[in-house]
Amino acid sequence: MLKLSKLTIAVAAVSMMAACGKKEEAAPAAAPAPAPAAAPAQSTVEVLHWWTSGGEAKSVAELKRIMQDKGHAWKDFAVAGGGGDNAMTVLKSRVVAGNPPAAAQIKGPAIQEWASEGVLANLDETAKAENWDTLLPGVVADVMKYNGNYVAAPVNVHRVNWMWANKAVLDKAGVKAVPTTWPEFFAAADKVKKAGLIAVAHGGQNWQDFTTFEDVVLGVGGTQFYQDAMVKLDAKALTSPTMTKSLETFRKIKSYTDAASPGRDWNLATAMVIQEKAAFQFMGDWAKGEFTAAGKVPGTDYICAAAPGTANAFTFNVDSFAMFKLKDATAQKAQADLAAAIMGTEFQEVFNLNKGSIPVRLNMDMAKFDDCAKLSSNDFVATAKAGGLVPSIAHEMAVPPAVSGAMKDAVSQFWNDDKMSVADGVKNIAKAAATK
Ligand code: GAL
Repeated sequence: MLKLSKLTIAVAAVSMMAACGKKEEAAPAAAPAPAPAAAPAQSTVEVLHWWTSGGEAKSVAELKRIMQDKGHAWKDFAVAGGGGDNAMTVLKSRVVAGNPPAAAQIKGPAIQEWASEGVLANLDETAKAENWDTLLPGVVADVMKYNGNYVAAPVNVHRVNWMWANKAVLDKAGVKAVPTTWPEFFAAADKVKKAGLIAVAHGGQNWQDFTTFEDVVLGVGGTQFYQDAMVKLDAKALTSPTMTKSLETFRKIKSYTDAASPGRDWNLATAMVIQEKAAFQFMGDWAKGEFTAAGKVPGTDYICAAAPGTANAFTFNVDSFAMFKLKDATAQKAQADLAAAIMGTEFQEVFNLNKGSIPVRLNMDMAKFDDCAKLSSNDFVATAKAGGLVPSIAHEMAVPPAVSGAMKDAVSQFWNDDKMSVADGVKNIAKAAATK
């Protein structure tokens, strides 16, 4: 539970200042704002998000433009920090202080938790007028609803189980084929190391460690094992030999990262691949937003491939915005316009072209999208049919934040402490998964 009442305003305010003060390194400024719309602003819509990297900022600038075109003033409430932990801390403090933003990037089971606090606005009127029930996959619509009412608007579908590779680095190292299994991956990584380059660009933050970890569990254990261990949190699966093998594989990956990885932001790790300093990165397809912003072309400059052993699976991460209850009628109108814009075809196309994700709205024309997005779109449909579509834990799609938080800490402790035995790592992760 969020336990808003237990947060003191003072503590929250301090963390808010700390989080706001943190700047994501080398995040280029958002694209210049377009000229203000001719119509006078009807209302100011304040939107909390954590999209501050180059590709992310370009994406959110499109939402701002669309809202300004509708005559609304946009108040940007960006809190740097990939994965959104900082943003969630700041959000809690604002809500506790009785001053929520109009909308906030909230996703997965956290939507239910916020709704159960009674602070979210009902979006049913917009959803009905815009036919959301027919335009969304059922699994996504369910997450956006609380007690049958829409309380959040979905933006996109990110695939998490991607491996990004720089083509020139692979050529230089003599890696002929993109690895599709973990043994093949380690053979390729050895070649890159021998060529004097970094094999794996990694950002040592707990959500990034876990992004790699869940790829490994999926690749080593397969979809059913992933479901049992990571989604159902089955104690038997969590302590099985397959989990031991997963941790061994996970630890081995670390030996291919550079010494400067602790604390590194994800987009700086992506930049290492873009700049031919590193061969591979395990990251969701927001990384593609960075390649795109740098003018790189998939297939020519870089490769997108499913993480080893995961080609028949798809770990999904759906971004969404929840709206907070506001009293003012013009503010409510702005929220309705925002919700409608988010699900509109214009936004779904232009935002996702920049963000690296695919539209969440069904039956969108994919003509303008690149091969990585087309592969993602096909795999999303195929895995949904065949049972390989699974929620990402690292990106808060699967289990309540208290559980995923504890699991992330346990996984990162194992990653950071080379002396911890695999057996202890397994035990600690299983214990964290039992968090109530
Ligand atoms: C994810 C989010 C993505 C992307 C990423 C890095 O949690 O869903 O949209 O922004 O964090 O910031």
